[in-house]
Amino acid sequence: MTWLITGGAGYIGAHVVRAMTEAGERAVVYDDLSTGIAGRLPAEVPLVTGSTLDADLVARTLKDHAVTGVVHLAAKKQVGESVEQPLRYYHQNMEGLRVLLEAVVEAGVPSFVFSSSAAVYGMPDVDLVTEETPCLPMSPYGETKLAGEWLVRATGSANGLATASLRYFNVAGAASPELADTGVYNLVPMVFEKLTAGAAPRVFGADYATPDGTCVRDYIHVVDVAEAHVATARRLAAAAPGTDLTLNVGRGEGVSVREMTDLINDVTGYATPAEVTGRRPGDPARVVAAADRVATELGWTAKRDVREMVASAWAGWVRLHPEAGARPGV
Ligand code: WQD
Repeated sequence: MTWLITGGAGYIGAHVVRAMTEAGERAVVYDDLSTGIAGRLPAEVPLVTGSTLDADLVARTLKDHAVTGVVHLAAKKQVGESVEQPLRYYHQNMEGLRVLLEAVVEAGVPSFVFSSSAAVYGMPDVDLVTEETPCLPMSPYGETKLAGEWLVRATGSANGLATASLRYFNVAGAASPELADTGVYNLVPMVFEKLTAGAAPRVFGADYATPDGTCVRDYIHVVDVAEAHVATARRLAAAAPGTDLTLNVGRGEGVSVREMTDLINDVTGYATPAEVTGRRPGDPARVVAAADRVATELGWTAKRDVREMVASAWAGWVRLHPEAGARPGV
C-alpha cells in the first residue's frame, strides 16, 4: 500500500512516517510546511508541499502517487489559539478535512486514519476515560477534532471506506533529537524552557482533588503513538468496507505535574524546585485513558515509560539549545 501522510513533516507526523517506512509501508508526505520541517523526512520519502484546502493538488497527489490509504494529521493544534481564532481553526481543521475526504472518495481510496485528541472529552469526571465517555470539548480545537471524527465516520459509512479516529493523550519524547518537538506549548518543553533560562518551572495549581494536588495526565511516547498508526493502517487495510474505529491512544497510567517536574529535574540534572502558581483556566484535574479497547482492536500497547519520554525530549531540546546541556551535572 501507499499511504499519504498529511502533516507528515510535523512532530508527530514525522514519527509516523518513520514508523511506517520502517515497517515496510510506502509513504508520501503532504504538508504545507507552516510548522512542519522538510528536514525531518527520510530522503526517499516524497514530499508534496501544499494545503489540504487545495482540492486540485490533493486530487493530483492521490492520483500521481497511486495512494491507497490516508493518515491525516495536518491541522492547527493550539488550544488557546483556537479560542482566539475559532474561524481559522474551523477553516483549517474542518474544511481542510472535508476537502481531503471529498478527494479521497472521488479517487476511491479505501482507508482513512484521522488524528484526533483527548481534547474531545473536555473535563471528564471519571477515573479512566473510555471511548464511550461523553465528549464535551472545551475549545474550538477540541470541537474540530470531535466534529472531524463525525465527518470521517459518516463519509466512511456512506462510501464504504474503512476509517479510524485515534484520540491521542499527552504526547511527549522523540525517536531521535532531530525529530523532537520544536514547539514550547506543552508541559515538558515549558519546564525545559524555564530550567534553561535559570528560572523555576511553573506548576499551574496544586489544589486539585488529586493525590498530590496537581493535575494528572496520561503521557505517551511519540514513538508508541507512531507505532499505533502502523497497527491501525494494517488493521484498516484488512477491514471490511464501512468499518470505523474510535480508539484512545494512551498508556492508561496517570502521572501528576509534580511527578513530571521532579522527574525532569532528575533526568536533566537541574535541581530547580518548581513554583506553584494559580490554576490555568480550563484545565481538567485528571485525564487518563482506558487503553483496553486499543489493545484489543489493534494488539498494540505502549512500551515506553515517562523517563524515556523526558530523556529523549531533553536530547532534542539540548540539540536546539546547546547552552542547556552545558550545566554542571548534565
Ligand atoms: C499538562 C499539564 C497543565 C505547563 C493539551 C491539549 C490536548 C493535547 C495536549 C493537542 C496541565 C500543566 C503545563 C506548565 C504546568 N493537545 N502545566 N506548567 O493541557 O493536558 O493538553 O496538549 O493536540 O488537547 O489540551 O497539556 O502539556 O499543556 O499540560 O503545570 O508550565 O501540565 O496545567 O495540567 P494538556 P499541557
